[in-house]
Amino acid sequence: MTRKIIIDCDPGQDDAVALFLAFASPELDVLGITTVGGNVPLDLTHRNARMMCDIAETEVPVYAGCDKPMRQPLRTAEYIHGETGVDGIDVFEPQTPLQAGHAVEFIIETLLAAEDDSITLVPTGPLTNIGTAIDRESAILPKIERIVLMGGAMREGGNRTPSAEFNILVDPDAADIVFRCGRPIVQMGLDVTHQVLSTKDRVERIAALRNPVADATAGMISFFERYDMSKYAAPGAPLHDPCTVAWLIKPELFTGKDCNVAVETQSELTLGHTAVDFWHVTDRPKNVHWVYEVDSDGFYELLTQRLSRFGDQE
Ligand code: BDR
Ligand code: CA
Repeated sequence: MTRKIIIDCDPGQDDAVALFLAFASPELDVLGITTVGGNVPLDLTHRNARMMCDIAETEVPVYAGCDKPMRQPLRTAEYIHGETGVDGIDVFEPQTPLQAGHAVEFIIETLLAAEDDSITLVPTGPLTNIGTAIDRESAILPKIERIVLMGGAMREGGNRTPSAEFNILVDPDAADIVFRCGRPIVQMGLDVTHQVLSTKDRVERIAALRNPVADATAGMISFFERYDMSKYAAPGAPLHDPCTVAWLIKPELFTGKDCNVAVETQSELTLGHTAVDFWHVTDRPKNVHWVYEVDSDGFYELLTQRLSRFGDQE
């Protein structure tokens, strides 16, 4: 069965790899890409998403959504992703057009027109578009089969503040709406994404595929990994966002547990913290499948094998 998905993203090199993995996977039907201000401002995230469609020669509609979080000022992450958001490749003005209309309207209209339980949302950036759509039109909720998102942290601690992971910190109010929405959620936090490191061998295998998508992937990872390699002396960068798409294709690569996850929206000190009730010490509802382990070799095998398919088209 093909799963219908909407990818809501802020490319971002790792968001871009998530898009490529989805485009290459016949198990997934990407109905649209919605973009949000996050790693870089909105004008760049929708430009970057459209560039990835050009590179992959894929026709998927791209929409621009919210340019700032619900209540917080926008925090960006050029210090990791570079000024373009996708440093590591040469940027160009894409042929893929920007669709008219707001991403939130696209999400609402698409879901309202769908069967119950039929569309999977895949957010890989701050949750502003999804939180706004749920807030504006709760009738979309039964249509959502599942939300598979990248964000949050438990054992790893935060990567943007001591308590918070970037995507949740940028829009904790939107994240709070999503975590309380009542639909099934699969969450890829830093505990799992920090296990999928782009080691030298893994990037070389991707570069050796020699097709435009693999070249772009290797180029972007080579820039993206500089930050983690110098800050944490890691052997490569965590490919956070592609974990969401990989879970949809091959969930057996991952291990998780149903837990309650709640988001801190008030505290100046711990804003955006995800409180994961891993040991069920409260009776709060188990609203999230919290993923904490991955077969990282299997993940890179899957990614490399799927990226090799872009060569077949030539
Ligand atoms: C998340 O933040 C961004 O920098 C990445 O694209 C990823 O979605 C990791 O904290
Ligand atoms: Ca992202």
